[in-house]
Amino acid sequence: MTKTALITGITGQDGYHLAELLNGKSYTVYGLIRGQNNPKLARVEQEQPYINLIEGDLTDLSSLVKAMDIAKPDEVYNLAAVSHVGYSFKNPILTADVTGKGVLNVLEAIRISGGEKTVRFYQASTSEMFGGLDYNRPGKGYDENALFHPRSPYGVAKLYGHWITKNYRESYSMHASCGILFNHEGERRGIEFVTRKISNAVARIHLGLQDHIELGNLDPKRDWGYAGDYVEGMWLMLQQPKPDDYVLATGETHSIQDFLELAFGEIGIDDWKPYVKQNPKFMRPAEVDILLGNPQKAEKVLGWKRRVDFPSLVKLMVKHDLELEASNKLT
Ligand code: NAP
Ligand code: GDD
Repeated sequence: MTKTALITGITGQDGYHLAELLNGKSYTVYGLIRGQNNPKLARVEQEQPYINLIEGDLTDLSSLVKAMDIAKPDEVYNLAAVSHVGYSFKNPILTADVTGKGVLNVLEAIRISGGEKTVRFYQASTSEMFGGLDYNRPGKGYDENALFHPRSPYGVAKLYGHWITKNYRESYSMHASCGILFNHEGERRGIEFVTRKISNAVARIHLGLQDHIELGNLDPKRDWGYAGDYVEGMWLMLQQPKPDDYVLATGETHSIQDFLELAFGEIGIDDWKPYVKQNPKFMRPAEVDILLGNPQKAEKVLGWKRRVDFPSLVKLMVKHDLELEASNKLT
């Protein structure tokens, strides 16, 4: 029997990779798309024609109930969110409505449509919930039992989504799992995130299309993995007999300066400093200084392990953007 999945956030980075993975496993894939003329619609229709698109919005419960009725999914992956941390400081109320309460709307849509005992649910939780402050486990990193201390409206909203998912699991015996994912990047990363902003600028500098890049704080460190590896972990969580929460991470942390060094190295530039200007516009009111995850539980229970290491990640992103920019289109 083939399975059916409903993915919210289908136009995002993870939505792309997860749909590819599930299609490869012969799932029937439905994707929730918002807005009356979403600019990403044409791209999805062209590149992933196997996806059945349903119009809906995480803030609109009735649209989610309709989506459940149409798709009748075995598995729901809730990837939709206002996901940019800096943006969440500018629009904290929208972030709470979508990234926080939106999770409750999806869970309620599952219950209202009668799926609480049959549908398996994945919530996209995040390392941003840890906040980097209680970094008192040198060499060990944050695991599923570490303290939460979110440092942004995004992190706070995600923590609500995390706990309401656990609450529905405990209250209604739902097969609802949270993946606490550390940063994951790749060719499909939005240009507003620092890794893609750098890989794209490096490509453009190499091609003579721009002469520098403006960034904010260069000191923070992140545990960066490849998105294609992480969606496999999401799927594995929903294949387990019991729901649970898992950290997905690489167990390594690198600074933005490390990323710059490797990315500029790809175009033969050893000293990146003359090409980078700092602009306070990209600084945040509160920063997460360091994130390092401990994926031991996922490795042991799920048999999950990241494949792409940090240098390979930087290399593949710069290579992709060199090709894209040379052909003058950005995806
Ligand atoms: P992304 O590329 O920013 O995609 C976000 C998706 O959410 C887009 O498809 C967007 O649709 C959709 N969306 C936004 N507001 C919506 C609304 N009101 N109703 C319905 N859909 C809405 O994010 P991502 O990197 O793929 O991440 C996927 C999920 O994992 C997010 O929840 C993110 O917070 C979480 N997460 C990501 C990482 C990471 O490193 N990537 C790490 C931990 C957790 P539009 O195209 O219409 O804007
Ligand atoms: N976006 C951005 N743009 N970030 C910058 C810039 C810039 O110009 N300059 C410096 N940074 C710093 C940020 O201040 C932050 O410390 C770091 O680069 C990473 O920023 P992002 O790439 O925007 O990612 P993030 O870590 O804040 O959030 C991402 O990862 C989370 C998981 O830890 C997002 O994908 C979240 O949705 C996700 O939950």
